[in-house]
Amino acid sequence: MPKQACIDIGNLTKSFSAGKTVAIENLSMAIEKGQIIGLIGADGAGKTTLLRLMTGLLLPDFGKLCVCGLDPTADKEALNCKIGYMPQRFGLYEDLSVIDNMKLYADLKNADRNFDSMLDFADLKRFKSRLAGKLSGGMKQKLGLICALMGNPELILLDEPSVGVDPISRRELLKMVKGVVDENRTVIWSTAYMDEAHGFDTVIVIDKGRSIYRGNPYDLASNAAELEGKIIELMGGYVQISSPVAENFRAKRTNVTYAVEALGLAKRYGDFHAVRDNTFRIKKGEIFGLLGPNGAGKSTSFRMMCGLIKPSGGTAKIMGIDVVEKPSLARSNLGYMAQKFSLYPNLSVRQNLEFFAGAYGLIGKDFADAIGRMTRVFALEKYLNSNSEELPLGYRQRLSFACALIHNPSVLFLDEPTSGVDVIARREFWNHITSLAKKDVTVLITTHFMDEAEFCDRISLFSKGQTIATGTPAELKKKAGAKTMENAFINLISKGEEETP
Ligand SMILES: Nc1ncnc2c1ncn2[C@@H]1O[C@H](COP(=O)(O)OP(=O)(O)OP(=O)(O)O)[C@@H](O)[C@H]1O
Ligand SMILES: [Mg+2]
Repeated sequence: MPKQACIDIGNLTKSFSAGKTVAIENLSMAIEKGQIIGLIGADGAGKTTLLRLMTGLLLPDFGKLCVCGLDPTADKEALNCKIGYMPQRFGLYEDLSVIDNMKLYADLKNADRNFDSMLDFADLKRFKSRLAGKLSGGMKQKLGLICALMGNPELILLDEPSVGVDPISRRELLKMVKGVVDENRTVIWSTAYMDEAHGFDTVIVIDKGRSIYRGNPYDLASNAAELEGKIIELMGGYVQISSPVAENFRAKRTNVTYAVEALGLAKRYGDFHAVRDNTFRIKKGEIFGLLGPNGAGKSTSFRMMCGLIKPSGGTAKIMGIDVVEKPSLARSNLGYMAQKFSLYPNLSVRQNLEFFAGAYGLIGKDFADAIGRMTRVFALEKYLNSNSEELPLGYRQRLSFACALIHNPSVLFLDEPTSGVDVIARREFWNHITSLAKKDVTVLITTHFMDEAEFCDRISLFSKGQTIATGTPAELKKKAGAKTMENAFINLISKGEEETP
């Protein structure tokens, strides 16, 4: 007997800006119940629009759309009881605790309040009274997922659930989601990463609002040629090309050996140790990766080193300057890109650049030169007057990077700069980073992409607030007896967690 369709789409079209941007174009497909579907596409391919159409949050221009036997526009309330949706941006209340967020979702979905197994899965039991806003990025993502599963929905729509999730949890997340799929329950999981394809029952690749592949993930690679190169770019690959960002960077001359030094850096919140001990020395021009599971204390370490929060113990020096003793001077030597989009959403691109140039003390000709240079090297001209919130993701990330670089800092702190952006933007970004390092800029970076970890000169593996191994990517793989960085990460972190209390 053929399986029943859970979603039926016919000639669906959705455009924005009075028809100028077509996000979904004449899309037709039927999705059968009881499987996990990977919706794969680059930034701007139409993934979020399609998921939002399925939830009834957006109205189609025209075409047929039937979800769980209902019309999402006409039967929105009935549909709401049948679907669980995890939006791309954090859909939780930051000023409510973990448990209160869960209670709220349970009430909305008429679900029972038996949260134990969910909290266990997400490893959030210890943190259930913590405000959601104080969770690490990846912990928020896991909380978002368990809230979407509340009330056993028939259809679970997950918009890029693996963004910002560490490699161990990413596997667990997929395992958990697979565990909830049964003959009547369907999951749609969107992603920009082709390497997630093998975990799905069926893969749908979308490009410019059209479906260009649908089938078994294992046949995807062999069909790549037939797709006329359209998906090739999602597959990754890295070639060093010239970087206008690095070419126009004005490096300051200094004679310090160590650009960054952290000695016993620690941070406590009440009796919780977010960072126990972070100690390292980083040479000028080095690319240093701080890797570790969600909640390990990476962002907290960065914030202390940038003088944004006060350490509970230890010291940090940037270009030889103590960040606690001389915060302004230390900060003038560093650029910081926060994990979460930290620009002013209601200011235009130009106003954001001006704000940061002013904040770093640039005046007169230097101020005007810096704005002009950043606009040029990041190709931001056409967006100068747009609100930064409305920018396409790749441009938002460019603007954040531009704001961190505007004063030609000697040290860059980049906290998951590539989370959520597609392979093309990631490649462009790494091209700038490696080129800047050649100009003696020191880069500290966090990432959950193990292919990116390979571009670091040295890596510190960080877990539960302390370092468990440091070395070059090759040294760490050797130490772990692993061929890939992903396996080295999993082996060393799992072993480290057994040893640390
Ligand atoms: N203001 C705060 N109050 C209480 N706990 C906090 C606060 N800020 C951070 N924490 C906790 O400190 C721990 C480390 O968080 P941090 O954001 O540094 O992790 P991370 O390594 O960056 O994780 P991710 O990979 O998910 O971004 C987490 O348990 C987090 O909830
Ligand atoms: Mg973080």
